[in-house]
Amino acid sequence: MTEPVLRVRGLTKKYPGVTALDQVDFDLRRGEVHVLFGENGAGKSTLISIVSGAQRPDGGTIEAGGRAVELSGVAAARALGISAVFQEFSLMPTMTVAENLVMGSEPGRFGFVDRRRIRRLARERLDEFGFRIAPDRLVETLSRAEQQMVEIAKAFRPELSVLILDEPTASLTDEEAERLFALVEEARGRGIGIIYITHRMAEIRRLADRVTVLRDGRLVTTVPGDTPDEQLINLMTGRVVEDLYPELPVPGTDVVLAARGLTTFDGSVRNASFELRAGEIVGFAGLMGSGKSAAARACFGLERVDSGTVTIAGQDLTGAKPAAVMKSGVVYLPSDRKQEGLFLERPLRETVTLPWLRRAPMSTGPLLRPGRERAVAGDMLRRMQLSPADPERPAASYSGGNQQKGLLGRALLGECTTYLLDEPTVGVDVGARVTIYERIVALARAGSAVLVVSSELPEILHLCHRVYVFSHGQITAELTGADINEEMILRHMMHWGEPAAKDIA
Ligand SMILES: Nc1ncnc2c1ncn2[C@@H]1O[C@H](COP(=O)(O)OP(=O)(O)OP(=O)(O)O)[C@@H](O)[C@H]1O
Ligand SMILES: [Mg+2]
Repeated sequence: MTEPVLRVRGLTKKYPGVTALDQVDFDLRRGEVHVLFGENGAGKSTLISIVSGAQRPDGGTIEAGGRAVELSGVAAARALGISAVFQEFSLMPTMTVAENLVMGSEPGRFGFVDRRRIRRLARERLDEFGFRIAPDRLVETLSRAEQQMVEIAKAFRPELSVLILDEPTASLTDEEAERLFALVEEARGRGIGIIYITHRMAEIRRLADRVTVLRDGRLVTTVPGDTPDEQLINLMTGRVVEDLYPELPVPGTDVVLAARGLTTFDGSVRNASFELRAGEIVGFAGLMGSGKSAAARACFGLERVDSGTVTIAGQDLTGAKPAAVMKSGVVYLPSDRKQEGLFLERPLRETVTLPWLRRAPMSTGPLLRPGRERAVAGDMLRRMQLSPADPERPAASYSGGNQQKGLLGRALLGECTTYLLDEPTVGVDVGARVTIYERIVALARAGSAVLVVSSELPEILHLCHRVYVFSHGQITAELTGADINEEMILRHMMHWGEPAAKDIA
């Protein structure tokens, strides 16, 4: 129990202009879940990328199983029993699930390609986890959650001694997350050491044996897993966070957006009626695939509408293109930052300003004013607590949570009447969330209608005036006031629409 499976001393990693890790010490024991906790950009992903062989450090030593090791690459780390699931996935998009699972994890063992054998092995792997994914599918056709499952199945290997998971539940349903927790607990029982990165306090409560807190690339401390939330947040931010959620303003009554009997072409939303009012924050709750995101997308012209209507500011915009919906004062924040929004190789500034470039103050008539564009982007990103606070760096060089702040900054820049925000705080640290919640409330106070689509229950409970609960494509409840509580929401989230006879029996 005392002999660490992994010991890191003085680990240092520098990027141009940033010391991502500064002399960090870290130990991982056999059979423990060790959470890495820290603000966005604190160095968590950098630490695990070095320990898993994906990057080389600029200084420091790593010992695995009591011996000093040089991790020349991911394969070298794998050979030592160290395996990671990264925040940004590493699957080959144009290969099948089976090829990724079997060949990726066991290079060289398949001299000539025995497709049937590869399929069978992949099928067995996926079944072991209860993941329902066909081994023949190409990775590029998978949803984010499905890719995550393949990554997880790939990382779990029989000879594993260290398992590393970077925000693994970010795109899983509750049910899938439960299954992952069970797997993690089982791995812990087998003596595997697990490094687990999360911003979710509930996951720390559920899994952590110890927590190591990083701040600005430095080790703050390592504490027991049952350290209270407030204390962990205090260690992480260096300040006391009193209230996560600001007080809500009194909502207005004017309907800004109304959907009636909305049904999408693919059936992801069926007969949904809802409305957003000026000065109001409305929540869409539901499991992944319940239709809550699809309903928001349909309002913005991103899902094909089969029947029903979407009216915005009194105008029928059913089936209109996103550009037309934007013209009527609506802005949309996608939940998947990689696929739908970031220009990875370009300065983050461009991601923020692009949709708004032709408006004042960034343009005067047909003329773009680059100086003003820089100022506007810089100002917004400062307010979002971007770190490092330099919008000229490429988007790809920011940590996951900081990329999210960039996208959210873009959405908030629009000065619109209606905001459709899908998972606005995914991957954002607790401290920066406070700022984001304050911004969202400020939008409502200024009279905008705000939709928050969220799989974070606390966000739905504390940030919303009114909540629609989705299940299997349908709205199963509309809740206000004291009815917005955990029990009510969960009950309606599990609801199957029309009760079937067998449910009554
Ligand atoms: N490829 C890169 N080029 C330049 N800087 C980088 C690169 N990758 C990370 N950084 C910087 O290193 C620091 C640590 O980033 P890291 O991704 O480790 O943070 P993190 O703790 O995982 O944050 P998050 O919670 O947002 O995922 C940040 O300042 C980040 O901007
Ligand atoms: Mg990270």
